[in-house]
Amino acid sequence: MNALSAKPAVLVIVGGSMAAVKAPSVLRRLRERGADVRVIATRAALQFITELSLSTAADGPVGTDDHWFEARPDALHLTHARVEAAVVVGASAELLAGAAHGHAGELALATLLSVRAPVLWVPAMNEAMWTNPAVQANVSTLRGWGHRFLGPEEGAFGTRGEGQGVGRMSEPDAIADAVTALLSPAPPRDLEGVRVVVSAGPTREYLDPVRFISNPSSGKMGFAVAQAARDRGADVTLVTGPVTLPDPPGLRVVRIGSALELRDAVLSAALGADLVVMTAAVADYRASQQNGEKQAKVAGDVTVHLTPNPDILAELGREKGRRVLVGFAMETHAGVERAALKAQRKNADFILLNYPTREGTAFGGEDNQVTLVRPDGSFEDWPRLSKREVAERLLSEAARRLPVRT
Ligand code: CTP
Repeated sequence: MNALSAKPAVLVIVGGSMAAVKAPSVLRRLRERGADVRVIATRAALQFITELSLSTAADGPVGTDDHWFEARPDALHLTHARVEAAVVVGASAELLAGAAHGHAGELALATLLSVRAPVLWVPAMNEAMWTNPAVQANVSTLRGWGHRFLGPEEGAFGTRGEGQGVGRMSEPDAIADAVTALLSPAPPRDLEGVRVVVSAGPTREYLDPVRFISNPSSGKMGFAVAQAARDRGADVTLVTGPVTLPDPPGLRVVRIGSALELRDAVLSAALGADLVVMTAAVADYRASQQNGEKQAKVAGDVTVHLTPNPDILAELGREKGRRVLVGFAMETHAGVERAALKAQRKNADFILLNYPTREGTAFGGEDNQVTLVRPDGSFEDWPRLSKREVAERLLSEAARRLPVRT
């Protein structure tokens, strides 16, 4: 058990899900670690767990919509927001949607809008709901604002354990660990003043006004690098191809379409940069001739002439100077060898090698499992980590290579 040094105030919001029954254990674990807990239960949560169980476990009153507007010096959604961390246990699709859209019509949501401390979501819902694009879009929005997520886990869930798949809420000990981590001192601002350029997402190479060549890159890895660099104090420019992720606050975002546009944006941002991280999945080819008008189909086969796109990382490598350059590579075979050759050819300091065929870590996933490969062929296998953790490690590696600043 990891005890907390001071007595930090932690807000625990309990959502309407079967997992609400685990909320008292979460409250007890947090109190055992020295947290001063405040609880809010949504109307839906109180269908699953009684107010009495929650107030007993919290050793204090439970904030509910019914007492929200009782006369008191300060409104409940403001007093309960003055905390060092907030955690939403049994987070339902409804709460995620409300928070992602700034709703304030119930105490839990109004309080979340007022919280300035880090927020951790611990979702619990069935797999069909969790994987629904509407829910995932809300999760992406919240992540973009810096909210953290724990789970949901794979396993049995539901009243009779009838559900199987991703959707089960993480266990109270894991939740208490994650809240403790949120309360730990902020990450070092070791990139204060460092100018970082990150490219992300796919490019689109139009054949005519309505057809293009592209790839399924989600942009999540690049956004994670940009956000982690921002949080460590860097001045960040994020150049991204078409992705569904919203602009993260606190950094410069340049949206581009084609590889040629990506090249212009990256090269101009890189002029004053100390570190360039190329996570973009750049299309290797574009149409030799782009048709200005939509091409109607014809009988039989058609031939499309493609011309190679410039290699942006290699171009940066040719005029490297003191800039640190990091690339990504995707290989299905002879990964390390090929990635080392790529790092040499492009003059990159190192390359993170991905495996597109590994489950959960390929295009669009939340995690990544990479191997760091240096131009001399030496390498390190990193474990499967969240994209944010991969980003943090990448930045620590890159930071070691930056010239010493005075
Ligand atoms: N990259 C780039 N410009 C390109 C293509 C790729 O800057 N036109 C960058 C990517 O952002 C990535 C790295 O180079 O950081 C490796 O990309 P990859 O496509 O794997 O390399 P290629 O040299 O295209 O290798 P392959 O021959 O395997 O396709």
